[in-house]
Formats: sequence, structure tokens, C-alpha cells
Amino acid sequence: MEKIKIFSPGSVANVSCGFDVLGFCLDDVGDEMIVRKTKSPGVKITKIEGQKLPLDVKKNVAGVAATALLNNHPTKEGFEIEIYKNIKAGSGIGSSAASAAGAVFGINELLGRPFTSHELIVFAMEGEGLASGAPHADNVSPVLLGGITLVRSIKPVDVIKLPCPKELTAVVLHPKIELKTLHAREILKKNVSMEKAIQQWGNLGAFVAALYNEDYELMSRSLKDEIVEPMRSLLIPEFDSLKKVCKAEGAIGFGISGSGPSVYALTRGTDKAQKISDAMKKIISSIGIDFVIHISTINNQGIKIIPN
Ligand code: HSE
Repeated sequence: MEKIKIFSPGSVANVSCGFDVLGFCLDDVGDEMIVRKTKSPGVKITKIEGQKLPLDVKKNVAGVAATALLNNHPTKEGFEIEIYKNIKAGSGIGSSAASAAGAVFGINELLGRPFTSHELIVFAMEGEGLASGAPHADNVSPVLLGGITLVRSIKPVDVIKLPCPKELTAVVLHPKIELKTLHAREILKKNVSMEKAIQQWGNLGAFVAALYNEDYELMSRSLKDEIVEPMRSLLIPEFDSLKKVCKAEGAIGFGISGSGPSVYALTRGTDKAQKISDAMKKIISSIGIDFVIHISTINNQGIKIIPN
């Protein structure tokens, strides 16, 4: 294969109780990328459409991730990357993860798959490090593995793909203001009280159990964030009202998507998702901020190869 075209999806990570460890993959929003073999070794980013981002491989998350892969797999072949961005940087829907994961996925396919999807996480994470100041794998993991993932450790990388109940549907509201992950991480307190930590790991363990048992009541009780949400929600317009109406419309859970400003709700099936979307629309329209809402099932495959 000389060339590959892929759909590299958006993702929601953190998922409330799982700061930096839980994430799920979306299906209806993502970037397209073309990766091509070239004769001169190394990586080049030749085109980016949809957003102003650097073509310089050292300053672009896709370039950094691709370079990390090639440093671990020396080859005489080179690669050119074209990126067609649909996920806005700073949206909280995994824009940098889509680019970083897409680059390593595409190159790995063209090389004949020397690495497993799990092994690609460590390279994609390097790109995330550039975007947010700290490598984290909660977005790149669901994009590379599909479904809902839990990052047990990043040193060494140890990621578990969790069961994903088929009915689970996400509604993601993206208010069109930019919040940089780097800044949204800087505002976090560095220490957590024992009381909050106990609540959080209780909820995280319960959420994982709820996925295995398809126990939606338990899922609802455990989708809570005692640590990060109280700080970051202050940066998100109408956060409390949005949470209230989504819960009233039967959302299983509601929280910040990534580092914001997007928020997500999880529910069962598309009818309920539509009602939640309508309720979100009413609130956000009332304050005159431009927005987009995605209704998406959980994408259990992750990155998809699409026809050229
Ligand atoms: N876990 C990351 C954070 C996701 O919340 O900072 C955003 O990239």
C-alpha cells in the first residue's frame, strides 16, 4: 500500500470520575487524513485544511507522534501527511488526539503493521504532550482501540478496553469558545484531599462495574467528578443549568468533555439523546453563544480506513 485515507474520530476524555484515565470514542465527528509513502525518509506535513495549524513537524502533534513512531522503527521510507480538520482545536473533543493517533495509525498501516494498536498509544501520547504540556493517553486510547477505554498506567502504557453497552449514546455540546488544555490543566489544584480521592475512586470502580453489568442505575450514580469539575466548570457558560436540564431529560451522566468548553451527556438510545440535545440547545441559544451539538453512538472501532 502506497497511500491511505482515514477517518480519525473525536473523543470524550475525561469521563467525569476518570480524570486522565477514562475516555470514549465518537462516531459522528472526526478529521480526515491522507498518509502517503515518499522516497525521502522522515515525515512531512504537506497540507492542513479547516484550521490554521503549523506544518512544522516539530510543532504539530501529528508530526511529533509520527516522528516518535519512526524513531522506534527505523526505515528508509518517508511519509507525507495531509490533514483535513473538522474537530476544532481547543474544543475538548480530542482534536489533538485525532491528529496524533491518525498519523501513527496511517504510517503503521503503510509499514505493514509492525505495531499493535495498543503499542501505538505511546507514540500518539507524545503528540498529546506537545498540545497539553503533559502526555496523557485518555483521548488517544479510545481513538486507537475504539469504544471505552481505561488507562491504568502511562509508564508503562497499560490500557484496558472496557465493554460498551450498545444503547449508550453521547450528546456533546460544543460552545464555540476556545479553552486551551494547557491552561485548563494549569488551574487545577495540585493536591487532592483523602475524602475527595476516596469518593472519586469509589465512583470510578463503580462505573467500570456498571459497564460490565450494563447497570445504568449504577452508571448514573457513579458518573460524578468530585475533583476536577468543580474548578473547570467555572470556565463553562451555563454549566449548572445545562447539567440540570440534561438530568431532567434522563441523562445517565453529564460532565465536561476533555478540558472543556464542550460538555457531554450520556443516555440510552437516540430518542432520549434528541430530547437532551433540544434541552441543551434552548439553554445555550439563550445566551447567544454559537455552538454545535453532536449526537453519537460510541464508536467501537476507532479510526476507520475510508475510500480514497
Ligand atoms: N485528560 C485531559 C484533561 C483531556 O482533562 O486535561 C484533555 O486533553
